[in-house]
Amino acid sequence: MQLSVIKETREFEKRVALVPDTASKLQNAGIDIVLQSGAGEQSGFSDQSYIQKGVKIADSFESALNGADLIAKVLPFTENELNSVPKSTTQISLLAPGSYLEIIKLMQGKSMTAFSFELLPRISRAQSMDALSSQATVSGYVATLTCAINLPLFFPMFMTAAGTVPPAKVFVMGAGVAGLQAIATARRLGANVRAYDVRPAAAEEVKSLGATFVTLDLESQEGAGGYAKEQSAEFIQKQQELMAEQVAQCNVIITTAAIPGRPAPKLLTQKMVEGMAKGSVVFDLAAESGGNCELSKPGEIIEHDGVKIIGARNVPSQLPTHASFLYSRNVAELVLLMTKDGNFEPNFEDEIVNGSCVLKNGEIFNEMTKKLIEDSK
Ligand code: NAI
Repeated sequence: MQLSVIKETREFEKRVALVPDTASKLQNAGIDIVLQSGAGEQSGFSDQSYIQKGVKIADSFESALNGADLIAKVLPFTENELNSVPKSTTQISLLAPGSYLEIIKLMQGKSMTAFSFELLPRISRAQSMDALSSQATVSGYVATLTCAINLPLFFPMFMTAAGTVPPAKVFVMGAGVAGLQAIATARRLGANVRAYDVRPAAAEEVKSLGATFVTLDLESQEGAGGYAKEQSAEFIQKQQELMAEQVAQCNVIITTAAIPGRPAPKLLTQKMVEGMAKGSVVFDLAAESGGNCELSKPGEIIEHDGVKIIGARNVPSQLPTHASFLYSRNVAELVLLMTKDGNFEPNFEDEIVNGSCVLKNGEIFNEMTKKLIEDSK
C-alpha cells in the first residue's frame, strides 16, 4: 500500500499532512510513504528529515501521485490540481462539505473517494483521529496569544513599586474545544476570564479552568452529539442584549461559537463593540464561517471606534509545526484503521469509516453533503 503526502498550495496553508516522526508508525503496518518534495518545508520539516525516516521523495506533484492507494492532505486539492489527479483515487483531508461543495462536485466527476475529518463521529474511539479538536486546540491558543500581543494592557495583575495594574478581563463566547483552550491560555497568562456557552454542560469545564461561567436567562440550545443546535433570531437578539453589559466590562473578547453545517451565530453587534473601552481587542475565530462579530473580516485586522477586531483565517497554520504534528497523528490513526495486512481496505461497516466518508467511487456517500448539493442546484 502506498500513501502519498502532497504539498499544500492553498493560500495561508502552511501545514503538512504527515510529519517525519509519524512515518514509522505507518511503515510498521506495511505502508510505503511517498512525499512530494518540499511538502513539509513551511511547517519546518525538510525533505532530508523524511528521507532519514525511510520516506521516498517525489520531485513533482504528478510523480507523488503515481501509484498512490491513498492521498493524505490537509486541505482539499484546488480545481487546477484536480485536473492532474488520476481518476478513482482516494484522499483523506479536512473537507468541510459546506465550504468545498464545488470541489466535491469535481471530485465526483473523477470517480474519487474522499474521507473528511469534519464528518468523523465524535465518539471516544475516534478521539485520536479527531482533527477538528486537535486543530481547534491550536486555534484557541493562538487566539489568546494574538489578543495578548495586540492589547495595550498586561494580561496578569502586576504589583510593582511603580504601582499595581489589575488583570485584563477576557470574555470567551463559546466554550467548545477552541474556547476551552482560549480560556486555559488566558488563565495561564493571569487574566480574569469569564465564558458563556448555550450548552449548560460547558459550565463545569469552564469552572474547572478557573474561569467564571456567565449565566444568562436563556434556555439551553444543546443539540445532537454534544453540539449546539441552530438558534432562532429571537434567541440571538436576546443573547446579545443580555451579554452587552458583560462585553462593555471586558478588554478582550474571543468568539468561537459555531453550529455544525450552519453559518456562525452573530453574537457581537457594532453597537456592542462601540460600548467597549478603546484599546480593547476582539478575536473572531468564526470569521471564516460568517463571523460571530458583525464587523469582522476573515484574515484582516480592522479597527472600529478604537477597538481592534481580528478576523480568523486558517489560524492553525500560524503554528504550523505543532498543528502538523497533531494533525499527522490524526491522519496516521485514521489510515491505520483503514489498513488491513498492509493493504488499503476501509471497512464501511465501521461507523468511523462510514461516518467520515463524503464520496465513494464518485457517489456522494454522506447525507448532509447530498442535501447541500441538492440545495445548490
Ligand atoms: P463547535 O466548534 O461546533 O462550537 C463551538 C462552541 O460554540 C460550542 O461549544 C457551542 O455550544 C457554542 N455555541 C454555539 N452557539 C453559541 C451561542 N449562540 N453562544 C455561545 N456559544 C455558542 O464545537 P466543538 O468545539 O467542536 O465541540 C462540540 C462538542 O463536541 C462539545 O460538546 C465537545 O465537548 C464535544 N466533543 C466531543 C469529543 C469526543 O467525544 N470525541 C471530541 C471533541 C469535542
